[in-house]
Amino acid sequence: MSSFADRLNAVAAQSEALLAQLLGDAPLPGETARPERLVAAMRHAVLGGGKRLRPFLVVESAALFGANRDGALLAGCALELLHCYSLVHDDLPAMDNDDMRRGQPTVHKAYDEATAILAGDALLTLAFDIMARDEVQADPMVRIALVRELARASGLGGMAGGQMLDLAAEGRFAGKRALSEQEIVTLQAMKTGALLRFACRAGALLGRANATQLAAMEQYGAAIGEAFQIADDLLDVEGDAATLGKAAGKDAEAGKATQIAALGINGARAKLESLIEQADRALAPFGPKADTLRTAARFIAERRN
Ligand code: IPE
Ligand code: IPE
Ligand code: MG
Ligand code: MG
Ligand code: MG
Repeated sequence: MSSFADRLNAVAAQSEALLAQLLGDAPLPGETARPERLVAAMRHAVLGGGKRLRPFLVVESAALFGANRDGALLAGCALELLHCYSLVHDDLPAMDNDDMRRGQPTVHKAYDEATAILAGDALLTLAFDIMARDEVQADPMVRIALVRELARASGLGGMAGGQMLDLAAEGRFAGKRALSEQEIVTLQAMKTGALLRFACRAGALLGRANATQLAAMEQYGAAIGEAFQIADDLLDVEGDAATLGKAAGKDAEAGKATQIAALGINGARAKLESLIEQADRALAPFGPKADTLRTAARFIAERRN
């Protein structure tokens, strides 16, 4: 079997090519025209950067259940478009107010705020257009399940809801109050965990996993989702902008609710280790077939960018 890095790079390269194609200038049936400035801003948001971890998790989870790789890659790219929308809006002046993302100016810097808002809107809706396509899965019932789960993961009770809690925790709308560890876990499970959990469930749904297997993938996804945001928060403290491709050292100043604020650096590191073990335990029923996903958990916890 090829190495973990080879497998991750392969999905990243295939995603890049597919995303470039999906973000073409030519209107699709039912579309009237694709305005040049909006397509350019969307391509800026999506192409030429990013670890492509979410497509990777969809593809590798699907592989565990023997699902068709091309369909999984397309579903993974739909999810990546939605993730990129979340980054464009996260960086807006009204939200985290960031100037750099993936080593380039953020969309509102390279273009303007109105264009960034619209690019995010159009990426979000394009994600659902793609998830509903029959190339994702021949069975429409599976596609409906994917669309519904993606909506729930990204909306009110998922990513967008988590972003609301994240901003509220800064004390923007009322007096600042220190969140409990459990409140921070919930906030992070929503803003970041929900899409990663969805990635793992999507692969299982594509491969027609049974309820027990889906529950195992849900547990794995929840563990890596939590680990992912702890690692992101640690990198904000310990990383540098050149390596990260985005600003470092902003969370404490903004008063962000992080697990580091709650547990300290060493406490957060210990929690990361226990989350990797939790991810391992969830994968136990799958044996060595799940080794790539095991390595992915460690990679997510130990990544440098
Ligand atoms: C960054 O996500 C935003 C968070 C959810 C913390 P990634 O670290 O996956 O960003 P890219 O896609 O690789 O740029
Ligand atoms: C972002 O969390 C979560 C989403 C984009 C939904 P952060 O605000 O910590 O992500 P970065 O650090 O800007 O990438
Ligand atoms: Mg944010
Ligand atoms: Mg941010
Ligand atoms: Mg961050």
